[in-house]
Amino acid sequence: MAYMSVASPALVQSPRERSRSGRLRHLLSARDLTIDDVDDFCQAADDFESGLAPRQQLFGRTVALLFFQSSTRTRLGFESAAVALGAHCIGMEDMSASRTNASIGESLEDCAAVVSRLADAIVVRHHECAAAARMAATSVAPVINAGDGWNEHPSQALIDIHAMRRGLGTLRGKSIAFGGDPRGRVVRSLVQLLRFEAPREIVFCPPPHYPVPEDFESTLAEYQIRLRVVSDIDTALVECDAVMMAPYDMSAIGEPPASGYVSPHFTPKHFAVTAEKIQRLGSSAQLYHPLPRFDEIDPSCDMLPNAMYFEQVRLSKFMRMAVLERLLTAN
Ligand code: CP
Repeated sequence: MAYMSVASPALVQSPRERSRSGRLRHLLSARDLTIDDVDDFCQAADDFESGLAPRQQLFGRTVALLFFQSSTRTRLGFESAAVALGAHCIGMEDMSASRTNASIGESLEDCAAVVSRLADAIVVRHHECAAAARMAATSVAPVINAGDGWNEHPSQALIDIHAMRRGLGTLRGKSIAFGGDPRGRVVRSLVQLLRFEAPREIVFCPPPHYPVPEDFESTLAEYQIRLRVVSDIDTALVECDAVMMAPYDMSAIGEPPASGYVSPHFTPKHFAVTAEKIQRLGSSAQLYHPLPRFDEIDPSCDMLPNAMYFEQVRLSKFMRMAVLERLLTAN
């Protein structure tokens, strides 16, 4: 089987994400966030959930949703967050009908320069690494990276940290595992945010043909977080406090939407989580997943107390409200 090569997302440079006063202008990469940013976002999400923070803070504002790649959660999550804050959304159901398509070829830079004069923020998903950073370079409004190829998905990582802090109480001293393809953009952003949480160790259970990316190893080494690799998901279910699952093969993530490529989603038995396995092992590990899932978590797990992935989705709306509120009111 031929596997896709992965671009070098670690080399993607962000434009200045902060204003001169230190305020966050864009959300492009988890690398650019501080522990204070993460705490602020989590607190704001809590406040929106509990009703402490007023809604309608973005009344009359406009959020542009530019999704060049498919999405359910991120697209509808930002839309529902914007609506809850009193803003409305503009966008195109099919970005191939825009001028920034393969045949006309208007640049992402010009697209951002134009759309940011029609909207107060741009949320963009694209199959190219650095697409969001390119748009931020010419946008006069905040740009939110909703997933750029193999690079990053920072709002999802904020959601995941928020959900794990909630689920585990704290990540300090905990053992956090990643099951499945380690190359994905969610994993990259989440590894960046885990550097603040002082976990005891990060455990990867990757397919043998997709080793842990080198930039993850260097990030964890820099923050003196132990990295361990295991070859069977049972080990993670028994020894770890939380397991963040991902599809066994994320190859479709780097493909342009029109390529017709179908990712081989089949997950070998020793990598898949089932209710039978959890019960047989007596595992109390919390199961997280940014979704969509394929066969790496069997639906038989959904009713178990271990399953946190739909709660993760419920919390996502409040985190995306926090992201929109902060970026649109701070600039
Ligand atoms: N988790 C996530 O990014 O889901 P979508 O691809 O559906 O947006």
